[in-house]
Amino acid sequence: MTSAYNHPEYNYKVVRQFAVMTVVWGVIGMLVGVIIAGQLAWPALNFDTPWFSFGRLRPLHTNAVIFAFGGSALFASSLFIVQRTCQTRLFSDSLAAVVFWGWQAVIVCAVVTLPLGITSSKEYAELEWPIDILLTVVWVLYGILFFGTLARRKTKHIYVANWFFSAYIIAVGILHIINSLAIPVSLTKSYSIYAGTVDAMVQWWYGHNAVGFFLTAGFLGMMYYFVPKQAERPVYSYRLSVVHFWSLIAIYVWAGPHHLHYTSLPDWVQSLGMVMSLMLLAPSWGGMINGIMTLSGAWDKLRTDPILKFLVVSLSFYGMSTFEGPMMAIKSVNAMSHYTDWTIGHVHSGALGWVAMVSIGTMYHLVPIVFGRKQGKMYSLKLIDIHFWMATIGTVMYIVSMWVNGLMQGLMWRAVNDDGTLTYSFVESVEASFPGYVVRFLGGAIFMIGMLVMAYNVWKTATTDPESSEGAA
Ligand code: HEM
Ligand code: HEM
Repeated sequence: MTSAYNHPEYNYKVVRQFAVMTVVWGVIGMLVGVIIAGQLAWPALNFDTPWFSFGRLRPLHTNAVIFAFGGSALFASSLFIVQRTCQTRLFSDSLAAVVFWGWQAVIVCAVVTLPLGITSSKEYAELEWPIDILLTVVWVLYGILFFGTLARRKTKHIYVANWFFSAYIIAVGILHIINSLAIPVSLTKSYSIYAGTVDAMVQWWYGHNAVGFFLTAGFLGMMYYFVPKQAERPVYSYRLSVVHFWSLIAIYVWAGPHHLHYTSLPDWVQSLGMVMSLMLLAPSWGGMINGIMTLSGAWDKLRTDPILKFLVVSLSFYGMSTFEGPMMAIKSVNAMSHYTDWTIGHVHSGALGWVAMVSIGTMYHLVPIVFGRKQGKMYSLKLIDIHFWMATIGTVMYIVSMWVNGLMQGLMWRAVNDDGTLTYSFVESVEASFPGYVVRFLGGAIFMIGMLVMAYNVWKTATTDPESSEGAA
C-alpha cells in the first residue's frame, strides 16, 4: 500500500466507494438501455410480462443512468475535488458514509419499485413519496458535507469547479423538493399538488433544470478540474470560466418551456423559453471552448493519452448537443423534431457523448489515485484506448441512427397528398424506423461492452498490488 491509499489528509474511502459504484451502475443502467433498445426493434423481447415491459424498464434505465451512474460519478468527483482544492479533509467521515449508503438505498428502492409499476408518472421524478423523502434527506446531508468542507478550506480562493458543484447541489435540492410535492393516498401512491398546465410547467421546469444542473453544471465542475489536471495545463481562461458559470445558471432556469411547445402553455411562455434556449448557446460554447483551449500547447498529448481523448471528445459532444438543443427549441424546428427519435438522438449525444464520456475520463484519472496505484496510473492504458474507441463508435452509431430515424419520421408524418390525405400511415413510419433501431441497439451494445472493459481495468487497478511492477501497460 502506498501512502496515497490511506491518505493522511483526505477521505478517499467515500471517493473509492462512489467510483466503484459509478462503474457498477454504469454497466447495469446501460444494459437496461440495450434491453429497451432491443425491445423497440423486436417487441417480442417484452416477453408479455408487465415488469419486463418497455414501459417499466424505460424509467429504470433513465433513473439508473442519470442518478445511479451519473450521480455516483458526481459524488465521487465532487468529494474528491472539494478536498483537493480546499486542501482539507471532508468535514465528517461518518456523514460521508451516511451519504454513500443513503444514495445506494435510494437507488435500490428505485430498482425494486419501478419494475413493479410503482411510479408517480413524472419523467425523471418517477419515484414515489417515501423514496422522495429519503432522497431529500440524503441530498441535504450531501449539501452539509460539501459546504461544511468548503467552509473549513485552507485556501482563500474557491476554485471554479466548486462553484459549479455548489450550484448543482443547491439547484437539484430545490427542484426535487418543489416538483415532488404531492398528497399521498397510500404508501405506494401519491398525487401531485399541481394540476393541468401548472403541473406540466413545474414538471418541465424541473426536467429541463435536471438537464441543466444535474447533467450539465455538475459535469462542468468535473471538466474544470480534470481537463487541466490531465492536460497538465492551467485553465485557458479563468475569467471566462467565471463568466461561463454566472451566465449559464442565470439563463438555464428560464428555458424549460421548450419542452412544451404547441401545448396549452401560454404562447408567450413558449416563446420566452425558445429565446432563452437560443441564448444558452453562448455560455455553453464559451465553456466548451474554454475546456478545449486548455489543451493549447498540449495537443500532442492526445496522441498518447486516451484519458485526455475521453475528456476532449466529451467536450466536443457537449458543444454539439448544446448547438442542437437551441436549434430544436426553435418552435418551427420543434414542430418537426418533437415526438420523433431526433429528441432521443439529442438526449444521447448529451448523455453518452458528454455525460458518460467525461465521467469515464474522470474515473480513469481518479481511480488509480484513490486506490493508491504506483505513479497514479491505471492497470492498462491499452484497455483505456480500446474503451475510448468503443465508446466513440457506439455513441456515433446511436446518434446518427436516431437523427436519420427522427428526420424520416418527422417528414413522413407531415407528408400529405394532393387531396389533403396523409401519404403514410403511422405504422409505415414504424416499419421504416426498424433499421435505425437495430443500428442503435448495436451502437448501445458496443458502448455497454466498453463499460465491461472499464470494469475489468478498474478491478485490476484496485486489486493489483501497487508496489509490484505487475500491470499490462
Ligand atoms: C448503452 C447505452 C445506452 C442505450 C443503449 C440507451 C438506450 C435508450 C433507449 C432505447 C431509450 C428509450 C428511447 C425511446 O423511448 O424511444 C433511452 C432513453 C433515455 N436514455 Fe438512454 N441509453 C443508453 C445510455 C444512456 C445514458 C448514459 C444516459 C444518461 C446519462 C441515458 C439517458 C436517457 C434518457 C434521459 C432517456 C429518455 C429520453 C427522452 O425521454 O427523451 N441513456 N435510452
Ligand atoms: C443549450 C443547451 C440545450 C438546449 C437549449 C436543449 C434543448 C432541448 C430541446 C428543445 C429538447 C426537445 C424538447 C421536446 O421537443 O420535447 C431537448 C430535449 C432533451 N434534452 Fe436538451 N438541450 C440542451 C442541452 C442538453 C444536454 C447537454 C443534455 C444532456 C446532457 C440534454 C438532455 C436532454 C434530454 C434528456 C431531453 C429529453 C427530455 C424529454 O423529453 O424527456 N440537453 N433539449
